[in-house]
Amino acid sequence: MREIDSATLDRLRQAASLAAAHAYAPYSKFYVGAALLFEDGALFTGCNVENVSYGLTSCAERNALFRAISERGAGRKIVAIAVANRNGAAGSPCGACRQVLSEFVSPDAVVCFPGEHGEETRSFAEIFPYGFRFEPEKGAR
Ligand code: THU
Repeated sequence: MREIDSATLDRLRQAASLAAAHAYAPYSKFYVGAALLFEDGALFTGCNVENVSYGLTSCAERNALFRAISERGAGRKIVAIAVANRNGAAGSPCGACRQVLSEFVSPDAVVCFPGEHGEETRSFAEIFPYGFRFEPEKGAR
């Protein structure tokens, strides 16, 4: 796992928690925030945005990622991720977000999230083994 100093990880957790304050979650009432730290030191946050259709809800992690890419392209890797919620509940990034993040994350990236027994810190490779990969230029085999 990549070495990231504890003050930086604290700052990232704090940013995720602040972002959760903006969550639009009138249906689930589960208020999530995510913060992504990139290799150049840039930090982007997002919150979940729900929809009455339920299925069109967008998670905090993907909103943070799409915001970062929309603002400055996809040229830099993510080195740390923090997820927080305002419900005092355990909550790691969902499987769909792990798959989407995997294209932009360094495998040794640090992932911080509230677990069943307090804050957990894991590498991205550890929480997302065997992700789907496909190289379109090689075609299906
Ligand atoms: N949610 C996230 O924002 N991130 C996750 O990784 C898991 C779930 C949101 C989606 C929905 O608005 C609410 O949490 C309850 O599932």
